[in-house]
Amino acid sequence: MFSKVFSALVNGIDADIVEVETDISSVGLPSFSMVGLAETAVRESRDRVKAAMKNIGINIFSHPITINLAPADIKKEGTHFDLPIAIGLVCSGGMLKDVPKDCLFAGELSLDGGLRGVTGILPIAAGAKKAGFSKLIVPSDNADEAAVIDGIDVFGFDDFSSVLKFITDGCAGAAHVLDREKIFNNNSIYGVDFSDVKGQFAARRCAEIAAAGMHNLFMLGSPGSGKTMIARRIPTIMPAMTLEEAIETTKIHSVAGLIRSGRDLAGSRPFLAPHHTSSNIALIGGTSKATPGQVSMASNGVLFLDEFLEFNRSVLETLRQPLEDRHVTIARAGRTVTYPANFMLVAAANPCPCGYLGDKQRECKCTASQIQKYRGRLSGPLMDRIDLHVEVASVDISELSAMNDGESSDAVRSRVVKAHEIQKKRFHSSKTGYNSRMTEKEVKKFCVTDAASLKILETAARKYSMSARAYTKILKTSRTIADLDSSDEIRSKHILEALQYRLIQE
Ligand SMILES: Nc1ncnc2c1ncn2[C@@H]1O[C@H](COP(=O)(O)OP(=O)(O)O)[C@@H](O)[C@H]1O
Ligand SMILES: [Mg+2]
Ligand SMILES: [Zn+2]
Repeated sequence: MFSKVFSALVNGIDADIVEVETDISSVGLPSFSMVGLAETAVRESRDRVKAAMKNIGINIFSHPITINLAPADIKKEGTHFDLPIAIGLVCSGGMLKDVPKDCLFAGELSLDGGLRGVTGILPIAAGAKKAGFSKLIVPSDNADEAAVIDGIDVFGFDDFSSVLKFITDGCAGAAHVLDREKIFNNNSIYGVDFSDVKGQFAARRCAEIAAAGMHNLFMLGSPGSGKTMIARRIPTIMPAMTLEEAIETTKIHSVAGLIRSGRDLAGSRPFLAPHHTSSNIALIGGTSKATPGQVSMASNGVLFLDEFLEFNRSVLETLRQPLEDRHVTIARAGRTVTYPANFMLVAAANPCPCGYLGDKQRECKCTASQIQKYRGRLSGPLMDRIDLHVEVASVDISELSAMNDGESSDAVRSRVVKAHEIQKKRFHSSKTGYNSRMTEKEVKKFCVTDAASLKILETAARKYSMSARAYTKILKTSRTIADLDSSDEIRSKHILEALQYRLIQE
């Protein structure tokens, strides 16, 4: 007998509908074949499903079985096909009359018939809703995550027998409820605050400008000067994530397998700090399963590259695409997957190989040529893409204890939010969104300065033989500084301040 059950295939952070077709023939020797480009995890479904069903007393394996996953020309990956395959078998075996066509199934089976949580449920839920399904049946572990999507009823179960009972009872019952606003709000706590950072006015100011215009930031300073501390607190001064942003980030985390319960839904902006020995794949994504990398996991938040100059050049090169396009495309056998990579880059480095050049307390032990060579690495295509460069001087521990707390994240964030509102109006008709992402045309239109300010900028550009890109970056940063100052026009003081944050290597 033939049956058809619906499931989905995750593609990037979206999902496409897959039809699981099952045929059990009444004649022939026992066999169990699977067609439709099933990859390893899906092929293994056969063994899991067989064991699970035998262990709960269902034995339909004495006839030839064929499973087809359609469309047949796309590779199928994931362990979540276990559940729809098992349902199809029961149906084709005549133990279940029919499976409602408005239900979509996803879940992994354990050998004793239990249901295990899987990755990518949020994209699957969104895809199911988009395709018009009204019910989604998943393992209990995935129910919170699936219920983030509004407009589709989610039912979570602990084992296969309960799913069968649900279907024979007419798929009735109360759907899983989730107060998603509440859960995202509960998860939006950072546990750190900008008030922890004492002094460091220039670096704090740069962090505020960076958050206000979504500019990338580079900090140069001795070990212990507070660079990591500041970087970690940048998400706390960005506006709270919108529901749309929270869902986007959670989708990426879902595909990466980071969502184990409702507590893992991304309510706060991510902060990712990959080590400088990280590989291309870790940073950009890849592996045989094409899992998202750190650049994607940091979407709508901060990617912090500490010891920036120690990163492998080729690894840094691969950051250029996501920095420009704000998404990343991973190619692997047979197809390409695209993930968002919409992050703020915050980089930090020591001022010299030993770390103590210019430090008040400790002496630098580097030779002039060592320092020159090290500083040479500061130039380059990636540094050129960072709008704000700031030096962070270390503060003596004894001085620190006497200093007042810094301004709170709440206070800084309120100014950042205002600057974002100005930009929302400015870019209402384009996809630009933030000053740092203005096109050449938009820079011309929105970065209007008076003659005196322009002269300052041109003089500096000549003096430091600035590249055209650096020149434009200063205008963009000035635009953000003027926005923080609620000034329509970019004035000399805004340009002068922006210039201060470019001069480390120019
Ligand atoms: N400006 C500061 N205000 C408060 N504490 C600071 C400051 N700078 C450094 N510290 C203290 O020093 C520690 C090391 O700072 P860290 O951010 O790791 O420095 P870096 O990343 O520059 O090496 C912090 O955890 C904090 O306790
Ligand atoms: Mg550090
Ligand atoms: Zn040194």
